[in-house]
Amino acid sequence: MCEQIKMVKLHDCPHMLDACVKLLNEEWPRSETSRLHSLQQSRDSMPMSLILIDSNNKLIGHVKLKKELLNSKSAFIESLIVEKCERGKGFGKYIMKQIEIIAKDLGLEKLVLTTTDKIGFYESLGFSISEIPQQHFGNKHLNSHNHFSELENVSEQKTSINFPAPPPLPPPLPPPEFNLFKNCLKNDEMRKILMHKFI
Ligand SMILES: CC(C)(COP(=O)(O)OP(=O)(O)OC[C@H]1O[C@@H](n2cnc3c(N)ncnc32)[C@H](O)[C@@H]1OP(=O)(O)O)[C@@H](O)C(=O)NCCC(=O)NCCS
Repeated sequence: MCEQIKMVKLHDCPHMLDACVKLLNEEWPRSETSRLHSLQQSRDSMPMSLILIDSNNKLIGHVKLKKELLNSKSAFIESLIVEKCERGKGFGKYIMKQIEIIAKDLGLEKLVLTTTDKIGFYESLGFSISEIPQQHFGNKHLNSHNHFSELENVSEQKTSINFPAPPPLPPPLPPPEFNLFKNCLKNDEMRKILMHKFI
């Protein structure tokens, strides 16, 4: 790995914004305007985008550290990326180690992320797959079939003695933590794996 690399805050290098938009959009296509807007939110107090640049100010990689709203000692790592032609040279690992140091300096104690296919990469960096308590996904995701079968049984019993069927019960309210998981696992992202590391 080249020795002349450094991690800098994106908001300290606004001239790197366009390169950053391009790098991220090559991997995760999105409107340039919304990507730019999102990157322009970078600040010391998070969300904080960090970029890895070489001695010629060429962009090598990016990562974002984002507040976890329910736990001030924890933060999300998002949008880790290394330029295609620079992958496999240790830069990804380097960025993750640097972000860990920065997170510690910010007083954080835990880092959280989601991934679909980089579990091995993050495990090699000390991350573990997070156990999500079953009740967080309760009836909606894990037990929907059983839950509604039970409701149907109740309804059938009552019908047989000529009572009108009760309206279906509303699903129970999720605990507050559910919103956290919902935020990182919404829609087609349900297949993502949540991982964490205490730092
Ligand atoms: C994931 C990514 C950032 C890794 O960056 P990189 O610079 O190629 O990774 P490194 O060269 O630092 O690899 C570090 C180590 O992880 C290993 N590794 C990399 N990808 C891996 C994977 N998918 N599964 C298991 N191990 C992996 C490497 O073999 C290397 O192991 P070593 O230290 O024993 O040699 C890069 O591949 C990338 O930008 N991918 C596209 C965007 C992406 O998927 N981001 C992650 C979103 S969750």
